[in-house]
Amino acid sequence: MVKYRILMVCLGNICRSPLAHGILQNKLPQKQYFIDSAGTSGYHNGEKPDPRSIEVALKYGIDISNQKSRKFNVTDFDYFDKIYVMDKSNLSNVLALARNSEDKAKVELILDSINSENQEVPDPYFVGNEGFNHVFKLLNNACEIIKSNLENIT
Ligand code: 4NP
Repeated sequence: MVKYRILMVCLGNICRSPLAHGILQNKLPQKQYFIDSAGTSGYHNGEKPDPRSIEVALKYGIDISNQKSRKFNVTDFDYFDKIYVMDKSNLSNVLALARNSEDKAKVELILDSINSENQEVPDPYFVGNEGFNHVFKLLNNACEIIKSNLENIT
């Protein structure tokens, strides 16, 4: 039985949040945890993740090639227990759609999970492969902490 649902959110839902989605999904039992991702923009609706995200994930044994980009929807606040955003711009875009304090309380910068000085996962879209490697490592560290915290709260 699914006991906790987590949504990963970035701007395009093709670079960062698909990686966060795949990484966390890979660490948790799928029968108990439902993980998904979305973008605040909808620019890439229906598209697969960026080939550079697919490639870096595969390098670490994670297949995200079947994911499809979709736009964040206000009803996601009802369905998900927790919404992790990649940067401060995503944070303000998602919070702007929150209907009440309960919605707002679900939203957090993903790097707040680790004691990171830089709170934002940098957008690698206009950067080369090194950017995607860096993003993978940041998200993998964050997802390890999220996983161990989940074991305490669920
Ligand atoms: P993401 O990266 O938010 O990590 O998926 C981006 C992807 C596409 C665009 C911007 C950021 N874009 O402007 O199309």
